[in-house]
Amino acid sequence: MIYWIVVIPAFGVILFIGIFSFWNLYAIVRGAPFVPSAAKRVAAMISVAQLQKTDVLLDLGSGDGRIVRRVAPLVLEARGIEINPSLVLWSRFMNVLLRKKKIYIHCADFWNYNIADVDVLFVYCIDSKMNRLEAKIQKEMKPGSRVVSNGFIFPAWTPAKEVDGVRLYLL
Ligand SMILES: C[S@@+](CC[C@H](N)C(=O)[O-])C[C@H]1O[C@@H](n2cnc3c(N)ncnc32)[C@H](O)[C@@H]1O
Repeated sequence: MIYWIVVIPAFGVILFIGIFSFWNLYAIVRGAPFVPSAAKRVAAMISVAQLQKTDVLLDLGSGDGRIVRRVAPLVLEARGIEINPSLVLWSRFMNVLLRKKKIYIHCADFWNYNIADVDVLFVYCIDSKMNRLEAKIQKEMKPGSRVVSNGFIFPAWTPAKEVDGVRLYLL
C-alpha cells in the first residue's frame, strides 16, 4: 500500500516533467524557452505601454499567464498565445481559480497567428528570433500600435522609451 502511495505520485511528477520538457524543447526551436518575466520587468512593461481600457493586448508566448492576469483589469482584452500545452493548461486553471475575466489563452504557434487586431504587443523572446519577429510585426500590426520588449532589442527600430531593460517601440 505504502509502495503505491509513493510510486503513483512520483510517476505523475516524472510524467509531468517529461511532457513539460518535451514541449519546452519544441518552444526553444520555434521561439524561446519558458523563462517567466520578473515582477519588476512586468511592472516596467506595464508602465511604458501606458495601457488604456480600449486596448487589446497580446502576450506573445504567454508562459504561465502571469502577464495577462496582471494586465486584464487595465485593458479591454488580455490575450496570450502559448505553444506549450502544459503552460496553457496552467494559465487557464489559474484564470478559473482566481476568477479572472477578459483573458483568452490560445494554444498555438505565434508564427502562424495573425496579430493585426492587437493594439499592444508584449514580447519576451530571444536575440536570434528578433529579426524575424520584427518583420512579422511590421507586416501585420497597424500604425499606432505599441510593442514592448522585455530584454531583447528589435534590430532596425529605435525605442521610444526604455525603463529597466524594457523597451517601448511605436509603429
Ligand atoms: C521567455 S518566455 C516568456 C513568458 C511570458 N511572456 C513572461 O514574460 O513571463 C517565452 C514563452 O514563449 C513560448 N513560445 C516560444 N515559442 C513560441 C511560439 N512559436 N509560439 C507560441 N509560444 C511560444 C514559450 O513556451 C515560453 O512560454
